[in-house]
Amino acid sequence: MEVRGLEAMYAEAVHFVATLARNEDGATVVVLSGDLGAGKTTFTQGIARGLGIEENVTSPTFVLEKIYELEHQKWLHLIHIDAYRLKDARELEVLGWNEIVFDPSNLIVVEWPEHIATLIPARAIRVTLEGVGDSREVKLYG
Ligand SMILES: Nc1ncnc2c1ncn2[C@@H]1O[C@H](COP(=O)(O)OP(=O)(O)O)[C@@H](O)[C@H]1O
Ligand SMILES: [Mg+2]
Repeated sequence: MEVRGLEAMYAEAVHFVATLARNEDGATVVVLSGDLGAGKTTFTQGIARGLGIEENVTSPTFVLEKIYELEHQKWLHLIHIDAYRLKDARELEVLGWNEIVFDPSNLIVVEWPEHIATLIPARAIRVTLEGVGDSREVKLYG
């Protein structure tokens, strides 16, 4: 799907999360792949918008993980993780990954899932972002 401009990217993410089913066996996990600057954080901001989050969603590059409380949504929390700075999966296990991924009330969005590949459940919904400037490509893999 070709997306032109920021607003189109937000709209695409709002639509994506509106149609995303809640997983009942554990957290719903969405992984966002793509180069630096491809739009992973922007897409997450659109997801947050779609979930009624009003506070500013900024990149968790340095804090690794941010948790947002949700009201009247399919999930109770949006958990935004940026694994860019993680060197291996054990570092995220220390941050409590196993607990958050177990809980169906969590929607977890992960940037740079390749850094923690062994922790990503097979059921994860995969989104790939490509492109620069005003023209981006958003691809979904079930
Ligand atoms: N569809 C788009 N159209 C125009 N600019 C975009 C689009 N998506 C992202 N951007 C811009 O590209 C830059 C990098 O986006 P970001 O989401 O931070 O990338 P990533 O998290 O993948 O590194 C930001 O300045 C953002 O505003
Ligand atoms: Mg980012």
